[in-house]
Amino acid sequence: MNILQVSAEIFPLLKTGGLADIAGALPAALTAAGCEPRLLLPGFAPILGDLQEVQTLCVLSTPWGDRVTLLWGRLAALDTAAYVIDAPQLYDRPGNPYEDARRQPYADNHRRFALLGWVAAQMARGLDVDWQPQVVHCHDWHAALAPAYMAFAPAQSPAQFPRVATVYTVHNLAYQGVFAAHHFGDLGLPDTAFAVDGLEFHGQMSFMKAGLYYADRISTVSPTYAREIQTPEQGCGLDGLLRARAGVLSGILNAVDDAVWNPASDPLIAHPFDARKPGGKARCKAALQETLGLAVQTEAPLFGVVSRLTEQKGLHWVLAGLDALIAQGGQLVLLGSGEGAMEDAFRARAAAHPESVSVRIGYDESFAHSIFAASDVTLVPSRFEPCGLTQMYGLKYGSLPLVHCVGGLADTVVDCSLEDLADGSANGFVFHDFTQAAFDRAVRRAFALFAQRPEWNRVRARAMRQDLGWQNAAAQYVALYQSALSV
Ligand code: ADP
Ligand code: GLC
Repeated sequence: MNILQVSAEIFPLLKTGGLADIAGALPAALTAAGCEPRLLLPGFAPILGDLQEVQTLCVLSTPWGDRVTLLWGRLAALDTAAYVIDAPQLYDRPGNPYEDARRQPYADNHRRFALLGWVAAQMARGLDVDWQPQVVHCHDWHAALAPAYMAFAPAQSPAQFPRVATVYTVHNLAYQGVFAAHHFGDLGLPDTAFAVDGLEFHGQMSFMKAGLYYADRISTVSPTYAREIQTPEQGCGLDGLLRARAGVLSGILNAVDDAVWNPASDPLIAHPFDARKPGGKARCKAALQETLGLAVQTEAPLFGVVSRLTEQKGLHWVLAGLDALIAQGGQLVLLGSGEGAMEDAFRARAAAHPESVSVRIGYDESFAHSIFAASDVTLVPSRFEPCGLTQMYGLKYGSLPLVHCVGGLADTVVDCSLEDLADGSANGFVFHDFTQAAFDRAVRRAFALFAQRPEWNRVRARAMRQDLGWQNAAAQYVALYQSALSV
């Protein structure tokens, strides 16, 4: 099955969050499952720079009159065939792909990402005579216009592929790509698309809604989040549409790319280890404590955070609970960037308690690996979390996740309650009420288990052995593609 995967980010070339990890791992997983995936990506500098054996497929005129070049080649970092849209006027900007240096969204984002969906739709119409997608699989709002364009301009492809199906995956419903209505004229969609039954959203246009409305199949990144987004509390104003489309909506839990996240073979960590030989983990912890100027204490449980610093992530509980955590003899290491006030607050706590708290503001892939390898607990107290990857990386690296019971966190972490310890299913710490008291109690449970080292080590070994690989998720995507094709 030929799958055109359309996304704005891709690990290891361009990443602002988990979307890139998934977009980067899915092609190999789909190939292993018997599909032929190819990528369609915007021509951001790191992506263009990695494209090998480059050929020009064609020059296209966009609906708003830009001329762009569609390149084709092989991405060396992923060893995957890729189409890349070369449009320097839209994509050649340093730094974050969506925002300028002052963290303001670029004023022409509607064009920058309409282009991605529009080119996907051109591909569906048989732009490359040598390779025709059967399914266009779009990720998040950046690619969400593809199903809309395709709905209004059906494939004119060779007879053997009479219809190109669309699958739209929501990685985070909170980021919607909403733009002022006056930009609609740029898009080259018929006026009928600007309607409640279309991409109109409270007088504006929503790229997310286009994906949800026009795609043949919708998926999101965990079964629990697939249910949650159908409620007014978590539906971000789109729960009505999601309920109406519940029959074509499913949740496929994200997986972990073992080639990148495996403590036995990870070149980014100081001492390799695995469930059978966990000794390297203690050495990683001591080395990190020393490097960061934390007290080098085996007996101090080290809590780790690797996160965007946004309201979504619930890290205000960590800030407010930090005194109690330190008083119980714990340490915190945090790597993150995002909202200025939260960055400042964490920095201040590190300055006040340098032996117990270490904070690095910024983005650092290698340091993230060190934190999972060294820490005992990975904190993910998110208010909402479509899937979450860091709790899964924590599991693989024997850093037991402490999570709020939402979205993919609820689907991957089982609390260390007595009964779940007894039957061997426990792998972390889960709190239900989104309150300081509930978070603090979960932290206390982590301390209590840590004090019983044999039991802790048993839970940790089981967590590290858990199968979080891509095989199962890839099989579910293949089934989803097949069902989209059967429409
Ligand atoms: P989200 O996509 O909402 O940010 P996920 O848990 O799905 O959350 O994915 C986050 C990804 O980004 C993980 O790979 C995590 O390790 C990484 N990450 C987040 N913040 C940083 C950072 N400051 N430095 C390095 N990696 C980070
Ligand atoms: C989003 C979500 C996160 C998810 C990731 C990858 O960024 O916030 O929960 O794990 O996408 O699907």
